[in-house]
Amino acid sequence: MTTESSMAQISRRMISAKAEQFTESVIREMTRLALKHNAVNLSQGFPDFPAPDSVKEAARQAISDDINQYAITWGAKALRDSIVEKFDRTQGIRIDPEREITICCGSTEAMMSAMLAIINPGDEIVVFEPYYENYGPDAILSGASPRFVKMKPPKDENSEWTFDFDELAAAFGPHTKAIILNTPNNPTGKVFTRKELEFIRDLCIKWNAYCVTDEIYEHILYDGAEHVTMAGLDGMRERTIVINGMSKTYSVTGWRVGWAIAPPEPTQAIRKVHDFLTVGAAAPLQQAGAIALRSPQAYYDGLATTYAKKRERLLKILTSAGFTVYKPRGAYYIMTDIARFKFPENDPRFASRSKDVAFAKYLVQEIGIACVPGSSFYNDPQDGASQVRFTFCKKEETLAAAEERFARLRV
Ligand SMILES: Cc1ncc(COP(=O)(O)O)c(C=O)c1O
Repeated sequence: MTTESSMAQISRRMISAKAEQFTESVIREMTRLALKHNAVNLSQGFPDFPAPDSVKEAARQAISDDINQYAITWGAKALRDSIVEKFDRTQGIRIDPEREITICCGSTEAMMSAMLAIINPGDEIVVFEPYYENYGPDAILSGASPRFVKMKPPKDENSEWTFDFDELAAAFGPHTKAIILNTPNNPTGKVFTRKELEFIRDLCIKWNAYCVTDEIYEHILYDGAEHVTMAGLDGMRERTIVINGMSKTYSVTGWRVGWAIAPPEPTQAIRKVHDFLTVGAAAPLQQAGAIALRSPQAYYDGLATTYAKKRERLLKILTSAGFTVYKPRGAYYIMTDIARFKFPENDPRFASRSKDVAFAKYLVQEIGIACVPGSSFYNDPQDGASQVRFTFCKKEETLAAAEERFARLRV
């Protein structure tokens, strides 16, 4: 007969030490809780409005044209060509579609493949905190030791999230293999400036490190903020791995098409890892991607304008509800501070390891709104205990429903 203790013994032996080191994604869990409690979901960053008709039509056409079998493992030629053309048009950088691009199942897989391709035991990576939660498990799975560098919240409306240059310099050393950058940034909305990027560039060159830069929000910018890719800085083309994808720019997070742009040597390694992880992303959707990436500039301008309005709307809603808000300059999230709220945090239904998690549970169950607890963006959960994140990639009706429900929340 199997006892509970022998079950525990078996599971300890049968589960890898790596898999035991991280939990399920808190962000994805919040979406499940939103569904369970019929809450307005302002947690996970997926649009609840339709994708562009032309992009959907391209996917339908690709299936009608019988593009149904495996694409070349490193990506359909048509999509690689479109990426080359777009990167050249938007960043002025000409890459080689045959040797410098790997199409993956979303930028999530592109990041994982890139890390598995470059990390050796003992290698360190530098990661800004707060960070997109996937980078934690990415580090564990690839065997990298992260060195975290804190970003500090803006002091007022007109200032930005900042980091201490000396602290960043101290995080680099002889074991640094890469810095993981994300600009525009999730969850803070920070858009790294050229000056900041140049400082990071100098450290990468000094310590012979890669910059792996997640640029998935490159077209979602506000207040005249400019997206600068690290790959374009002098001396960085040969040591930058750009991670990007269709999810956010074309509102198709469920299509799972992303890519890594890297110099030929790391690309060879990324392609091998990718091939044995997933073989390839969905072939007809890659074909549709080839067409989506040829969208006119007006499409990208329209995307940013639409999100700018949604940002204003949610900033107003959250401010009226009593949150301290940190205005984002890019991406589609608002980080907030919840220190002012009094709520029954010791109620057993909400009691949690930190205040932000208790608040998120209270909000989803009692107020009917899902957010992401701030602790999921920090290595030490206490660092995010006073923060929660909301997304505004939602239709007006969704934001209006949230506004109505927030009326029940008391400061
Ligand atoms: C910074 C960042 N990178 C990557 C992803 C995931 O992108 P994909 O859908 O291409 O895997 C997200 C999704 O929220 C994100 O915020």
